[in-house]
Amino acid sequence: MTVFVTGGAGFIGSNFIFYMFDQHPDYRIVCIDSLTYAGNLSTLASVMDNPNFRFAKISITDKDMVDKIFAEEHPDMVINFAAESHVDRSIENPSIFLETNIIGTQILMDACRKYGVKRFHQVSTDEVYGDLPLDRPDMFFTETTPLHTSSPYSSSKAGADLLVLAYYRTYNLPVSISRCSNNYGPYQFPEKLIPLMVINTLEDKSLPVYGTGENVRDWLYVEDHCKAIDLIIHNGKIGEVYNIGGHNEMRNIDIVKMIIKAIGKDESLIKYVEDRKGHDQRYAIDPAKIYNELGWIPETKFKDGIQKTIQWYLDNRSWWGEIISGEYRDYYDKMYSGRLS
Ligand code: NAD
Ligand code: TYD
Repeated sequence: MTVFVTGGAGFIGSNFIFYMFDQHPDYRIVCIDSLTYAGNLSTLASVMDNPNFRFAKISITDKDMVDKIFAEEHPDMVINFAAESHVDRSIENPSIFLETNIIGTQILMDACRKYGVKRFHQVSTDEVYGDLPLDRPDMFFTETTPLHTSSPYSSSKAGADLLVLAYYRTYNLPVSISRCSNNYGPYQFPEKLIPLMVINTLEDKSLPVYGTGENVRDWLYVEDHCKAIDLIIHNGKIGEVYNIGGHNEMRNIDIVKMIIKAIGKDESLIKYVEDRKGHDQRYAIDPAKIYNELGWIPETKFKDGIQKTIQWYLDNRSWWGEIISGEYRDYYDKMYSGRLS
């Protein structure tokens, strides 16, 4: 069994590679990643010498190189994690989001058709459903909730989802889609809420909370997401969408306070800053379908997962230290200087 994992040098893709080698040590895994600012080869150090692993520095938007690696490896399955993934960056520069997230997906699926791949799985997001009101805790996203996006990022992911379903209907490409809620865990790039707040707290820097901090996200430990994808690609139905989420809704401000407390610092670090444009209020997944059809349930409780995650950032300062001293520093200064000064 040869599995292509695109975007495998990023946060969730790398965790998925580790999970797959754990569960299926005999599988051959080929990671396809163009190593954008969010991709980090050092993340994959522990699998680099595995004879069943190959890393290929290729952009999913490069049709010729994609064709070449399909011709060389003839994958059985392709799991597409590769994406531009940060909402704030999409507000600054939408073009690359459309290029990678939509055109890249099309190029991969064309190669899957040409080489007779048995499963193309698209890793999507709950953000394609837009947001839910804060005062309706009874409302959840199901797989039939209409797509209603807010940001260029979520719009590009919704565009890709529609294209994936079109390839199923039009060409009979064996596809599946998962739409997961917010992930957290090891190797998440420091631009995202939890690692940013952990690192800033450790460094006694201000903690920039957008707007009132009351926005709600539904957090899932990354390994539970990986387990769900593994179940879907092996047992999930072709042509279907599966929502993934663990009913763990939290307000941003409560997460920030929890991190401060766990690290033993003071809440005076919190700074309320200008809100994100078009900021989604609340995400909340109804995971009944994946639970009923595939028996998936999340294993890690938030209180344990957040402790493990904070500990991981404490133990791996060199991983994020290199990131925050490089190109990312310019991004941070650009995005937050007006807000924090
Ligand atoms: P990430 O930004 O950490 O990693 C993305 C990876 O894709 C990086 O390694 C990057 O180098 C690679 N990449 C980007 N453009 C590429 C291209 N053109 N060709 C090849 N590789 C390219 O993202 P993540 O948080 O790991 O998210 C992975 C996937 O999961 C994305 O599709 C995202 O939309 C989806 N998702 C993320 C979350 C979340 O909470 N992070 C939740 C639900 C769904
Ligand atoms: P993020 O991690 O960017 O994920 P997403 O926007 O895809 O849900 O943000 C999570 C929440 O945290 C979101 O409501 C925006 C908020 N946020 C802040 O308040 N401050 C920050 O510096 C960041 C990065 C996010």
